[in-house]
Amino acid sequence: MKAIYPGSFDPITNGHLDVIERTVKLFNEVIIAVLSNQDKEGFISIKDRIELVKESVKDLKNVTVESFSGLTVKYAKERGANVIIRGLRAPSDFEYELEMSQINYFLSNGLETLFIMTNPKHSFIRSSRVKEVAGLGGDIKDFVPLPVYKYLYQKMLLKK
Ligand code: PNS
Repeated sequence: MKAIYPGSFDPITNGHLDVIERTVKLFNEVIIAVLSNQDKEGFISIKDRIELVKESVKDLKNVTVESFSGLTVKYAKERGANVIIRGLRAPSDFEYELEMSQINYFLSNGLETLFIMTNPKHSFIRSSRVKEVAGLGGDIKDFVPLPVYKYLYQKMLLKK
């Protein structure tokens, strides 16, 4: 079975990494699919986001990191994935994720979404907060994989 884990990963956090490490134990192959949105580059370029995800998962087997644009379900089908993976941090994530999984199920004629409940120690971590805290000089060491920590630290220093 092949799983696809789509997201913005702007940047990848320890919460994402926890979901990936647990997904790897359930599937033969895991594709991490970084959404490349032409209209919205975001704070970290797609190229750098992919590089950071690759560095963060380099010790995991059977994981590939790719970028995609367009519909997630279309890309999942092209890549032969059987299941979409999403993490749930808190009940507040549920409404959005429920709707997305239902749309995806409908659009794909039956592609299932499997939810991994985030480890509580990561449940308050989101990429936007990480960037905010880093931008204001807070310590993000415990929130992100080491390559992301180094990258953001450099980027914030250059901005000063
Ligand atoms: O990390 P994110 O930003 O929560 O990920 C959201 C993502 C990339 C999974 C979602 O926006 C997505 O699937 N975008 C691709 C476009 C698409 O398929 N839209 C229909 C389902 S909402």
